[in-house]
Parts: sequence; structure tokens; C-alpha cells
Amino acid sequence: MFLMNCWYAAAWPNEVSADGGVLTRRILDRPILMFRTSAGNPVAFLDRCPHRLVPLSAGRRAGDGIRCGYHGMEFGADGHCVHIPGQDKIPSNASATTFPLIERHGVLWIWLGDVKLADPELIPFLPWPALPNWAASPGYTHVAADYRLLTDNLLDLSHENYIHQGTIGNDEEETIADFPVQTSIVDKRLVRAHRDMHDIAPPPFFRLMTGSSDRIDRWQTALWTAPAINMTDVGARPSGGAREQTLVSRVLHLLTPETATSTHYFWSHNRNFRQDDAELTERIIEAHQRTFDEDKEMCELQQRELDDSGLSAPQIALKVDDAPLRARRMLSALIREEGEGGTVVIAPQQKLIADAEALEPAVA
Ligand code: FES
Ligand SMILES: [Fe+2]
Repeated sequence: MFLMNCWYAAAWPNEVSADGGVLTRRILDRPILMFRTSAGNPVAFLDRCPHRLVPLSAGRRAGDGIRCGYHGMEFGADGHCVHIPGQDKIPSNASATTFPLIERHGVLWIWLGDVKLADPELIPFLPWPALPNWAASPGYTHVAADYRLLTDNLLDLSHENYIHQGTIGNDEEETIADFPVQTSIVDKRLVRAHRDMHDIAPPPFFRLMTGSSDRIDRWQTALWTAPAINMTDVGARPSGGAREQTLVSRVLHLLTPETATSTHYFWSHNRNFRQDDAELTERIIEAHQRTFDEDKEMCELQQRELDDSGLSAPQIALKVDDAPLRARRMLSALIREEGEGGTVVIAPQQKLIADAEALEPAVA
């Protein structure tokens, strides 16, 4: 069901603090507990006491570790038991399960697969939220739907016209599906779906970005790599304008399965213009919250229908389904390979998205 030997986004850094609180989140259908040590290092535990299996989150923080709320066993930040009330001897197997949790590029990444393979160098190279010359508008949306439905959504942006008219979508008369998509596979690991839209009316979000209602040349490149790391590279400039006038946004969509039918959707709109405009940062967050709530609504409706009918989508494959279907096939093959004992590991993924983005400037 899930690819295990890879890094998943677990939280935004500011969600996990060293102030004595903990963050609990179900990830890949496992209960996870996160906090920081006094030195600020993030740690992740299976939220389950190895004694009688109550959630460790029902206990409380103790030093740099945690104390179970039932019989008081204490575990250090590495999961090893450091104290058992009423006995001096600590059994060798008295450890809580921990997982690698690393902060990089403004995201906390967790590894729930084979710990021997948990190489931090495999963390996807997505630097924009933490780059000083870029401004990030991050957010989080919980979606009660299979993470693959969200990848389908992100690799086929023709839905913009129908559900995002208030933000990034044009009116239906000027449907972006009429601008053909070029789909390509990069390095056998990445799906890239690119669309140029010359001389198109600017949807509301683009009017906010450019401060103008004039028509624009626009592109969007949807990038996906396993398991569910997505980026939309978006460019816009006045119709017929010079390349230097292009405003570029890189929108990250990091999808982490909560369960088989629910998803943690971490998103971040990153821009390299008007970086100091705090009001714009906030307005982008609002616009994206709204936009992704619209996607959430559609994916949740779809999930309910899939559950009720037992069918799989799509029932008919349209032109716009090319990229989503390729990604689905690639992911299934990786999960199968891993299940058969292969070491899938997404080694070349590290810089894949950044490199693919640089491949073709589009509307150039
Ligand atoms: S259940 Fe945790 S110490 Fe007993
Ligand atoms: Fe959408």
C-alpha cells in the first residue's frame, strides 16, 4: 500500500516544539509522537508504550524523553528505557520504538522504513521554503482521501477551470484543457506535465500577483516523484512581455498518507518576488487554503464514491489523465519491487525536482 523506504514530510518545523508539548500524527497508518529535546533536536516515537501499549502521548515529557502515563516507565530521546518505577534492572528489550526525524529545507522529514537505509542524503532536495531570497507561504490541509487521488489532481491541472475559478482558474470559456500538455518522464523517476498558455486572461490569483488585469503569458509545470512529492512550477508575465518580467512561483505539495484513505497535505507557495511583502504572503496563504480546500472537497467526494462503489477511477481515460496514470504506474511498480524485497530507495531523487525544473524554462 505504501512505499516504506523513503522520507515523508511529517510536520512543519514550528509544529514541533521543545516547550514540553508533543505533536501526535498518524503517518502510514502508524501512531507517531513528535517533540524536540532541550537542544532543539526533533525526535519521533511510535506512540505506543512497549509495556502495555497505551499511547505514550497520554503520559508526559520527562527531561529529553517521555514518561508513560500508566506505570511511569521513562524513555530517553533515543527510545531506551532509563527508569522503571519499583525495579532497578531494566530489561534489554525495554525500549520504545523511535524513527529518524530530520529537519531540512524547512520541513521535518520522517523515515518509517528499514532504519539501516535511512540516509539523510535521500531527503528530496526542495530548498525553496528555506532559501533567503524566496518567500514562503506554507500551510496544511487534512484530506479524507487516498494520497494518490491528490497526486492525480496535481498532475492534471485542467480542473482549475471548474473548481478554482475564485483563485487560479479561468472562466470555463477559456479552458486550460485546450492548451495541450506535454508529458515526459525524467530519469525514469519523475513525471513532468507541462502546459504553456499564451495570451490568457489572468485568474484572480494572478491579478493579485501582478497587480494588473491585463492578459498574460503563463505556464505551469507539474512535477511528481515517488512516493508523493509534487511541485508546481508556475510562471506568468504580461502577454508578449520580456523574460525578465516573469514572476515565478514554486508550489510544493508534500503528500503524506495518514491512512490508506486519508492524507496530510503540506503545501508551500514559494515566490522570488516581493519577498518582503508580508501582506502578500498572508494573502497567498489565504488563497491557497481556499484553493486546496476546493481540491479537498472534490477528492473526498471521489473517495466516498470509490468506497461505496468498490470501483476504481478513472472509468474512462482522457487525454488529461496521461501524467496521473504514468505516476500511478511508476508508484505501483516501486511498491511492488519493495514488497518483493528489492531495495527501491529513491537515490537519484535527491535533486530530481530541482534538476527537472531547470530543464526547460518554457514560455522562454
Ligand atoms: S503501559 Fe506504559 S508503563 Fe505500563
Ligand atoms: Fe486544484
